[in-house]
Amino acid sequence: MAIILAACDRPDDNELSAALDYCVGQVRKTVQSLPADSARIPRSIAYGKTEWRFVNYRDWTSGFWPGILWYTYEYTQDTLWKQQARRYSQALFPLVDSAAIDHDLGFQVFTSIGNGYRLTGDTMYRTVLLRAADTLAKLFNPKTGTILSWPRDVPGVDWPLRHNTIMDNMINLELLFWAAKQGGNKELYNIALKHAETTMLNHFRPDFTSYHVVVYDTATGKKIKGITHQGYSDSSMWARGQSWAIYGFTMVYRETNDKRFLNFVQQVTDVYLKKLPADHIPYWDFNAPDIPAAPRDASAAAVTASALLELSTFVPDTTKAAYYRQQAREMLQSLSTARYQSRQLNNALLLHSTGHKPNGGEIDASIIYADYYYLEALLRLKKITAGKIFIKACGKIQ
Ligand code: GLY
Repeated sequence: MAIILAACDRPDDNELSAALDYCVGQVRKTVQSLPADSARIPRSIAYGKTEWRFVNYRDWTSGFWPGILWYTYEYTQDTLWKQQARRYSQALFPLVDSAAIDHDLGFQVFTSIGNGYRLTGDTMYRTVLLRAADTLAKLFNPKTGTILSWPRDVPGVDWPLRHNTIMDNMINLELLFWAAKQGGNKELYNIALKHAETTMLNHFRPDFTSYHVVVYDTATGKKIKGITHQGYSDSSMWARGQSWAIYGFTMVYRETNDKRFLNFVQQVTDVYLKKLPADHIPYWDFNAPDIPAAPRDASAAAVTASALLELSTFVPDTTKAAYYRQQAREMLQSLSTARYQSRQLNNALLLHSTGHKPNGGEIDASIIYADYYYLEALLRLKKITAGKIFIKACGKIQ
């Protein structure tokens, strides 16, 4: 395994191309196996099984499959993938015809239609995204300074008497930042910024590990408590929650250029990296009592790898930037081994993700968002090493 420590390193192109080509092959197999109807969207494959479980456009994961198709198009430039990506993106348009079911609207439209707009400039996509941003912003509560993540009854979360905000919600701020820059309401920027500031204040313990959920008093906006929903316990570090934090605050720094976020996200990252097992793929919760027998969460590794690649382009300390990039590369190398790639076992990209352990959902499974962030991370690494992403720490790579 190649270990490259320089911040401005060159890639092992063969290894990276092999991983990307593998992804294209798996995506092709899935496309060939799908029903003709784009209303059924692949979400997960249970452990030991080969069949995708499908969802409709309302499911929180509905954007990841079209997003994978857009990334496949971006990598191959083959219009076959663009046609497929368009079909599945269009299937999500009805999401903006009604009020937001929850904060996940950002995940749904930005991974799909957002990538579609980035790659095609299609103004219809832009219109849908701007409407989605306005819809999502309606969940913002100025009293708490955050978006209401789950405007419905979730066990243990006490809605409607209380306002809940979950760490995952950080990812959806990207849609608001985007819309504010793209001719949408400028207030969307302030909402996203306020949500990030409030989350930074309330969602973390002194050691920078995060709560999955923070419950606020709806009327006064005061924080009541930090709890978990998908993690092991209220005081544990749920792996994907911490990954959403790393990804989310890196993105917020990109959008605001506010050094508070850059400093903060490094603390949030460092506690995650320090506690990782040797193969860089976390157990589903860092405090799961049955480690090392506990299931892993490859999705958390994929989200983190993608985030670290971006973070490595912002961190001014070249040693630290190199460390983050090296960690991301090792995560991707581990995910690209026979232990984590699905290969002949099923048509997904990756095995061994954990969705919702406490309620027994999607444990040690192939899950579509793991595949999305894995592919995104591989593409980010390709762009960084090809010099298409500017590295603040070392200048543009030649
Ligand atoms: N956003 C839901 C999850 O990470 O499982």
